[in-house]
Amino acid sequence: MTVRAGLVGVGPVGDRIVRCVRERSFPLSKPLRVMATSARTEILGGEQIQIQETRAELFEGLDVVFFAGREGAKGASVQWAQTAIEGGAYCIDNGSDFRLDPTVPLVVPEINMDEVSEETRLIASPNCSTIQLVVALAPLHRAAGIKRVVVSTYQSVSGWGQAAVEEMERQLPACLRGNPVECDPSIFARPIMLDCLPHIDRFMADGYTKEEMKMVDETRKILSEPDMPITATAVRVPIPLGHSESVNLEFEQPITREEAMDILSQAPGVVVIDGPTEDPAAVEYRNDPQELQYPTAADIYEDRYKDMVLVGRIRQDNTIDNGLNLWIVADNLRKGAATNVVQIAESMLARGIIG
Ligand SMILES: NC(=O)c1ccc[n+]([C@@H]2O[C@H](COP(=O)([O-])OP(=O)(O)OC[C@H]3O[C@@H](n4cnc5c(N)ncnc54)[C@H](OP(=O)(O)O)[C@@H]3O)[C@@H](O)[C@H]2O)c1
Repeated sequence: MTVRAGLVGVGPVGDRIVRCVRERSFPLSKPLRVMATSARTEILGGEQIQIQETRAELFEGLDVVFFAGREGAKGASVQWAQTAIEGGAYCIDNGSDFRLDPTVPLVVPEINMDEVSEETRLIASPNCSTIQLVVALAPLHRAAGIKRVVVSTYQSVSGWGQAAVEEMERQLPACLRGNPVECDPSIFARPIMLDCLPHIDRFMADGYTKEEMKMVDETRKILSEPDMPITATAVRVPIPLGHSESVNLEFEQPITREEAMDILSQAPGVVVIDGPTEDPAAVEYRNDPQELQYPTAADIYEDRYKDMVLVGRIRQDNTIDNGLNLWIVADNLRKGAATNVVQIAESMLARGIIG
């Protein structure tokens, strides 16, 4: 079985989709048809790729289209998804425009792939910070019933697109020289370099940000728990890639640290990095015989972790009945975006929906 696939959008997410399709040997019948707002040649996923200006006839003959454009009325999926569907394609969208539409499934293949059928022409992929959260939460919820979630994030600048990566890189030299840092307030409200900004996306009337409410609303939708109490604080940190999350969970049923470790170790898409450190020098250097291993955003550069959700610091929360704390890390551009949409297409292929 082979698939004719297209891609709209060539920012960091589009770049990773090109890589994922190649690395995962997604069975393309012809090279990916790549579109953006203008025609040009660019290096994407390490290859020189011909990009075409998006227009209706380019969607003809495609089985599946990955959308990695911008959101809103002038965004890629709002402008072009219907045209792609009319041309016969299934659309898988990284953007937020359709995520909360009750007629559009919001899919993480490890959790709710069964919501996709032949009739599902448009599929939404969740926000990066939501994907890594739910991949770890879903198996624990099945085991012990989550009663409440408190999550704080530490999100890399690439989560805000290529312009944000360039803005951080531009601020670095002045910062290192101790000079005042100029900042483009259309990207970050304040200089991001050497600081942490509790401000991702726009503020809402109640003081939460849209990013925080995406995590709340999308997690509820994916877990089919519309009333689950979830509260979030989303923080931008000056690192290029990888989101980390500190998560406090309260459960209906008792669940020990060991049970949670066991469940997560067997959960699809999860790698547990916890327990005694494997660094033989750690005890000597830091004189800490209790030292534990844990994941950080630096780990996602390792091939074996780049498409996985890494979980560590699994601890009992002794201030409440049935409480746990977790630390969750993933590559926001891979499992948080590109890998997830390619995995959705792989599952559609395996189920005979495409191909
Ligand atoms: N970054 C993340 O961690 C992350 C994670 C999950 C989901 N997402 C979502 O994934 C999408 C892409 O993210 P990104 O960070 O790669 O964004 P980005 O750097 O802003 O790139 C957006 C790309 O979309 C193209 N585009 C925008 N509007 C278009 C239109 N109307 N028609 C055709 N092409 C259009 C742009 O074309 P030009 O190059 O020609 O301007 C550009 O190549 C966004 O919706 C984002 O919210 C991002």
